Amino acid sequence: MSMINGSLPDFVKIVEVGPRDGLQNEAKALSVADKVALIEQLADAGISHIESGSFVSPKWVPQMANSAEVFQQITQKDNVVYSALTPNMQGFEAAMAVGAKQVAIFGAASESFSQKNINCSIEESLARFTPIISAAKANNIPVRGYVSCVVGCPYEGEISPTKVAEVSEQLLAMGCYEISLGDTIGVGTPASVEKMLKAVSAVAPVEKLAVHFHDTFGQALTNIYSALNQGISVIDTAIAGLGGCPYAKGASGNVATEDVLYLLNGLGIKTDIDFSKALAAGWFISDILGKKPASKVSNAYRIDL
Ligand code: HMG
Ligand code: MG
Repeated sequence: MSMINGSLPDFVKIVEVGPRDGLQNEAKALSVADKVALIEQLADAGISHIESGSFVSPKWVPQMANSAEVFQQITQKDNVVYSALTPNMQGFEAAMAVGAKQVAIFGAASESFSQKNINCSIEESLARFTPIISAAKANNIPVRGYVSCVVGCPYEGEISPTKVAEVSEQLLAMGCYEISLGDTIGVGTPASVEKMLKAVSAVAPVEKLAVHFHDTFGQALTNIYSALNQGISVIDTAIAGLGGCPYAKGASGNVATEDVLYLLNGLGIKTDIDFSKALAAGWFISDILGKKPASKVSNAYRIDL
C-alpha cells in the first residue's frame, strides 16, 4: 500500500453502517421508504459499501424488521455493495431471498456480550457461522466478520487483546474476507486501541482489518487517527452519527461519517465520496428523526445547505 504523510494510507474505504447499526437503535422505527431514500442518497454520495439491513429476530431488534422490504426496494448500483447482518442460517437465507450480495456475521471477544447479543457462547456462535460461510462460498457471497467488545465490554469491563486476536484469527480462518473490530461501547483510547491492533495484526494481515468505533466517550476520531497510523484503511461510520447497540447499555452511535470525511479530507486521504452529498444525507435522515445530527461537522456546515 502506498503511503503519504509518513505512515498514513492514501485511500480509505468507508463502510457506511448507519442504515443498520444506526437505525437499529433509534427509538423511532423508520418506514421502508425513508430507509430506501437514505440508502440511495448514500450510494449517490459515492459510498461503495452500505450495510443496509439486518436479518435478525424482530423480537430482538424490531427496528430491523422491515429489512427484507428495504432490500427488495433499493435499486442496487453495480459499484456499491449493499450488505446485511446474518446471525444464523435463517437470516442468511432471508438475505439471499431478497438479493443481498454480501453478508456479515457478528461475534464478540466477550462471553457475556455474546450471550446477551446473540444468545450463545463465543464457541457456539462460531459453530453457527460455519454453515453460513459454506453456503455463502457456494453462492459467491463474501462474508465480513465483526468482533464486538474489542477493548471493553459493558458486562465484563476490559477485554484482553489476546482474546480479540484469537476470535479474529478464527473468523479469518473460517473464510471471512475482512474483520471489523468493534469498540461497541466506545471506551477505547489510542493506548488501548493500539495494544489491541498490535495483537490482532500479529495474527492477521492489516489489509484484512477494519475499525468500527462508537463515540460514547468522544474518542472515536482520535482512535481512528491512531488506527490509520497503524495501517488500517477501512473505517466503519454512520451518517449523522446515528445509532448505538440495543444490547450495550449507554453505547452511543457510531462515529459520524461526516466527521470522518472531514478528518480524511484534511489529511489529504482520498475516499471518492462527495462530502456535500454526505452532509445532505445526514440532514435528511436527522430531519426525519426530528433531531440534529450527532456530527459536529454537519452542525458546523448546516448554514451552507
Ligand atoms: P434465539 O432466541 O437463541 O434464536 O436468538 P432461536 O434460533 O432459538 O429462535 C427463536 C426465535 O427467533 C424463533 O421465532 C425464530 O424463528 C426467530 P419464534 O419461533 O419464537 O417465533 N429467529 C429469527 N427471526 C428472524 N431472523 C432470524 C432469526 N433467527 C431466529 N435470523 C438470535 C438468536 C441470533 C436470532 C437473536 O439473539 C438475535 O436476533 N440477535 C440479534 C441481536 C442483534 O441484532 N444485535 C445488534 C447487532 S450486533 C451489533 O450491533 C454490534 C456491531 O455493530 C459491532 C460493534 O459495534 O461491536 C456489529
Ligand atoms: Mg456497532
